[in-house]
Amino acid sequence: MRVLVTGAHGLLGRSLLEPDFDAEMIGCGRGQTPVGRRAYHPVELSDPRAVFSLVEKVRPDWVIHTAALTDVDRCEVDQPLARQINLVVVEHLASACRQLGVGLAQLSTDYVFDGRQGPYGEKDPTNPLSHYGTLKLHSEGVVLQQGLRGLVLRTLWLYGYLPDTRRNLVTWPLEVLGRGQQLKIVDDQWGNPTWVHDLAQVLVELCRRQVQGLFHLGGATYLTRYQLTRELACFFGLDPDLVQPTTTAAAGQKAPRPLRSGLRTQALESVLGFAPLSLSQGLECLAGQDDFRRAFPTLC
Ligand SMILES: NC(=O)c1ccc[n+]([C@@H]2O[C@H](COP(=O)([O-])OP(=O)(O)OC[C@H]3O[C@@H](n4cnc5c(N)ncnc54)[C@H](OP(=O)(O)O)[C@@H]3O)[C@@H](O)[C@H]2O)c1
Repeated sequence: MRVLVTGAHGLLGRSLLEPDFDAEMIGCGRGQTPVGRRAYHPVELSDPRAVFSLVEKVRPDWVIHTAALTDVDRCEVDQPLARQINLVVVEHLASACRQLGVGLAQLSTDYVFDGRQGPYGEKDPTNPLSHYGTLKLHSEGVVLQQGLRGLVLRTLWLYGYLPDTRRNLVTWPLEVLGRGQQLKIVDDQWGNPTWVHDLAQVLVELCRRQVQGLFHLGGATYLTRYQLTRELACFFGLDPDLVQPTTTAAAGQKAPRPLRSGLRTQALESVLGFAPLSLSQGLECLAGQDDFRRAFPTLC
């Protein structure tokens, strides 16, 4: 199986390209630098001709589209840019994949829900609160249209350590708490943190099995962001009392967040016979990673 991965330098992109899956994984992204030992193509995804030429040249069995504008507040403020990257690019890719008979796997989010009654299953009604969530919901429709081999995977709260990727909800608090500084973290946003390597493995397996449709993947532990950060501090021997609770209203973020969110993953678990890791299992894996230990030498 040959897979073209967009967003090669992002957290999920690198998690798909750096390990050895039993598949030919090819990266593409905005920079010139390849990821690991993989074949790599620089591309600007907002150019539809460049997208078509790339898919035509690589002729993958699947495109796994991880590239996105993932800064939810920036999406709220710069809506034209967010639309271009998070929706128009998906339309370009879907058009190329349909014409060339290639499967398209799109990443979506729990932000398609309003967070009143999570955790959510695939059949629960959507009601996005933010522009990011609205665009992701529209992108799902583009990928699940007739005539395209489409797969949509909604996920949330990705964590892991991949060198040179932006900080995530685990690496950022570890940096701050490791310096002995206090952190205020919201105690009213609920979700299930997802080990990024679980997500990468599931995506490759779904493509291999030619699975289509809509699925959820989230980790096995359901908690608030505040609880997560305290657990993190305890796990790595840092002071959990440096973590102070706050509320979403007080945090004053630009984009509204779903509060009682989270994703139920039973459908995927029964299709693949796969159970995602709990938070403590994910942290064990993280602590065992050589490059993580090099980046956080005082923690391990
Ligand atoms: N992280 C989460 O917790 C989370 C939760 C739910 C869903 N998701 C979804 O999962 C997917 C992967 O997330 P992630 O955390 O791995 O994202 P990420 O680390 O922010 O990486 C996104 C990548 O997209 C690339 N990109 C953005 N615009 C591009 C463009 N116009 N042309 C080419 N590349 C472009 C970025 O390139 P540069 O490096 O050049 O900026 C970056 O490498 C996204 O679709 C996201 O919406 C993530």
